[in-house]
Amino acid sequence: MSANNAAERTSGATAATDEPLLRVRGLTKHFPVRTGLRSRGLVRAVDGLDFDVRPGETLGLVGESGCGKTTTGRMLVRLLEPSAGTIEFAGRDITHARRRELRPLRQDLQIIFQDPYASLNPRHTVGRIVAMPLQVNGIDPPGGVRKRVQELLELVGLNPEHYNRYPHEFSGGQRQRIGIARALALRPKLIVADEPVSALDVSIQAQVINLLRDLQRDLDLAFVFIAHDLAVVRHFCQRVAVMYLGRIVEIGDRTDIYERPQHPYTRALLSAIPDVTALGPAGRIRLAGDVPTPLDPPSGCRFRTRCWKAQDVCATEEPALVPRNGGRQATACHFPEGEPAGTSPEGEPAGASPESGPVAAAGPVVPVRRAESVESAESAAPAGSTPPAGSVGASGEEVAK
Ligand SMILES: Nc1ncnc2c1ncn2[C@@H]1O[C@H](COP(=O)(O)OP(=O)(O)OP(=O)(O)O)[C@@H](O)[C@H]1O
Ligand code: SF4
Ligand SMILES: [Mg+2]
Repeated sequence: MSANNAAERTSGATAATDEPLLRVRGLTKHFPVRTGLRSRGLVRAVDGLDFDVRPGETLGLVGESGCGKTTTGRMLVRLLEPSAGTIEFAGRDITHARRRELRPLRQDLQIIFQDPYASLNPRHTVGRIVAMPLQVNGIDPPGGVRKRVQELLELVGLNPEHYNRYPHEFSGGQRQRIGIARALALRPKLIVADEPVSALDVSIQAQVINLLRDLQRDLDLAFVFIAHDLAVVRHFCQRVAVMYLGRIVEIGDRTDIYERPQHPYTRALLSAIPDVTALGPAGRIRLAGDVPTPLDPPSGCRFRTRCWKAQDVCATEEPALVPRNGGRQATACHFPEGEPAGTSPEGEPAGASPESGPVAAAGPVVPVRRAESVESAESAAPAGSTPPAGSVGASGEEVAK
């Protein structure tokens, strides 16, 4: 089964009726690295992604720092030129569309940036910032630009009277609302949101996420939602793609990914959920070693250097993204979780499946950056006790970002 077929099969139960709004096949970005005039090779930031996003759907993109999420998002909105692969938007191939061809597309495809401080020009008023996409695209809405901008400010929960204020007069959460209003100015069909709340206080994050959810529902917006926080992704996204070192290792419906992860890496990511009492200590997995460099990724399965189930074939054959679970999920692993051929984390009963310890996202979850070992059921600290140094646990302090 090809990866393309897998992407088609896993686009979900309603895929037969809904043509994808966004169709990505083999999307790749390699950055050349040079020292002076000498080439030092290629950073394989993104390496052959296949996925669809249907109208009004939210797809979460998760994975450790440096796995290629931002690079993917920037290629989708064409802020970066792909090295290979295709991006189709509303049936049009936009992979290498030129600036003039991109202009009408910009209306439908927008991005919200991570940092609400850096992404707003401090010398421009809020009115000018939100009006910019309308003016750049030569759009004169009914009632005029000012009226439209004030409607947008109201839509995102800001006072329309603050039209003439400057970004520094707003809090972080309010600034992100300004960025959202700007992204909505052209009534887009799809928004790429790159860590839209990670720069905000936890207390503000929920407000902004709820705003995005209301907008998504009311305006039938599709999202590619990039986030470290797996609890937020579970709350916001209908489908989830898990990335590791530039590849999608698992993709599927939210419930399947969170409750029946089939890829060992997904399982390890989810096991970093701080609520160990909900998960149970047996479910906590600590990965060995660091993420390898994307300049020289491991042969075969890229996760094999940290995988407790790796066998010889994992070093020689790259696993394809194969549909499982009735096509609702696709996993790139020779020995997926829950299959008898695989081994289990040390100390755990052989063949134990994630169902034996269902994953509950009850708090902020971040990808594992570094951990020492796979923690066994027996050796795990009792729930509520302090995890050993280097672990990813309730405190969450030894986590990426
Ligand atoms: N312009 C560039 N030149 C060379 N390498 C780059 C460039 N941009 C990104 N990279 C590399 O590509 C890889 C993917 O980076 P990217 O920013 O997409 O990761 P990410 O998943 O968004 O990480 P984070 O969670 O930290 O935001 C990283 O190894 C990064 O160092
Ligand atoms: S293919 Fe092998 S190394 Fe890769 S995740 Fe599966 S078992 Fe682990
Ligand atoms: Mg990023």
